[in-house]
Amino acid sequence: MDHVENLLAADVSVVALCDIVPEKAKAAQAMVEKAGQKAPELYTDGDHAFEKLVAREDINLVMVVTPWKWHVPMAVAAMRHGHHVASEVPAATTIEDCWQLVNTSEETQRHCMMLENCCYGENETMILAMVRAGLFGDLLYGEAAYLHDLREEMFSNKGEGLWRRAIHTERNGNLYPTHGLGPVANYMGINRGDRFDYLVSVSTPALGLAAYREAHIPQGDPKWNEKYVDGDVNVSLIKTMNGLMINLQFDTSNPQPYSRLNTIQGTKGIFRDYPPRIYFDGQKGEEEYVGIDSYKAQYENALWKKEGEIAKKLGGHGGMDFIMIYRLMDCMKRGLAPDFDVYDAAAWSAPGPLSRASVAQGGAPVPFPDFTRGKWKERKGSPIAEIQS
Ligand SMILES: NC(=O)c1ccc[n+]([C@@H]2O[C@H](COP(=O)([O-])OP(=O)(O)OC[C@H]3O[C@@H](n4cnc5c(N)ncnc54)[C@H](O)[C@@H]3O)[C@@H](O)[C@H]2O)c1
Repeated sequence: MDHVENLLAADVSVVALCDIVPEKAKAAQAMVEKAGQKAPELYTDGDHAFEKLVAREDINLVMVVTPWKWHVPMAVAAMRHGHHVASEVPAATTIEDCWQLVNTSEETQRHCMMLENCCYGENETMILAMVRAGLFGDLLYGEAAYLHDLREEMFSNKGEGLWRRAIHTERNGNLYPTHGLGPVANYMGINRGDRFDYLVSVSTPALGLAAYREAHIPQGDPKWNEKYVDGDVNVSLIKTMNGLMINLQFDTSNPQPYSRLNTIQGTKGIFRDYPPRIYFDGQKGEEEYVGIDSYKAQYENALWKKEGEIAKKLGGHGGMDFIMIYRLMDCMKRGLAPDFDVYDAAAWSAPGPLSRASVAQGGAPVPFPDFTRGKWKERKGSPIAEIQS
């Protein structure tokens, strides 16, 4: 529903909608009609109804906004029918599926962008500009995370409660790596002059979900049959080919304030988020962080300058959802490639399966595949940083 709202605000024709729950599809259809558009056709006839949607010819882009296990089959089907794809995060949850996206995007020459909205955040886009302007010197280290207390949502009998908790009974590693990692990878120029080399990963015991169940779920509920195996706090260290390091964290099972850490450090200074603060070499005063507001006039991203007001009004995740959708739709309308491609989608999703492999081997190093097949060495540019208008 949030994406539909943003698409309508970005002046896009929504021609078809698919959801296995007809009421949800109808609610989205009503939103589109209310915006003055023709009623989009609905596809609600079971898990594979999407196959009929992607067979339509009047589509430029298919957005995949379903539970994780459907991302790859839906994205691949859409590309095979000649449509560009924007997939929710993570784009894939196995290395084989990462390759399937890469291979299909290359074979069909269709764009496959992962909807990593955090790359479009107000702070992230501004810090990116400062990184590119050299304010932090040579980069060394970043921190990225998804630290979000999702216990109530995961134990709900609707929405993500219908599928997300179950994944904690199956896997042990970082289940959701991309929100923190995307922006830090973008600061570091991953897939554009550098790439992820290997990671090591370890997890704590899995206690948080069982403790929440004990406190909130009546005995006899079927949820009591579940055994949670995903270690509550998972920490991975990623090394890049150029020797940089990223500390990547994940925890959705315990009480804590939300954070994606969003830290970048170089030879001339460091930025830390939550709350946003900065320290540069030679800064006046004590060795203390200062706020980032004074950098806004010079380094605010052009997208935020132009669309920030409406983005904040629409609200999704502080406005970054609209900024991302607006920018993606602008690229589609102007025939430009989206900012991020299938190689980014694969590389940022890969710590999911790779962290599981490392945890299973006692924290052993696990190599990243080179999804770009060597092209990372020649690829240049800095998505988002180069946007002028
Ligand atoms: N980028 C972000 O900030 C952000 C925020 C929330 C969720 N997400 C991602 O968005 C995706 C959806 O999350 P959500 O919170 O909306 O989950 P949700 O469970 O609320 O919604 C998923 C929808 O998919 C439908 N669905 C399930 N199987 C389907 C199928 N085979 N065909 C068609 N529809 C199907 C469900 O009926 C439901 O309406 C997930 O990948 C999640 O990780 C991203």
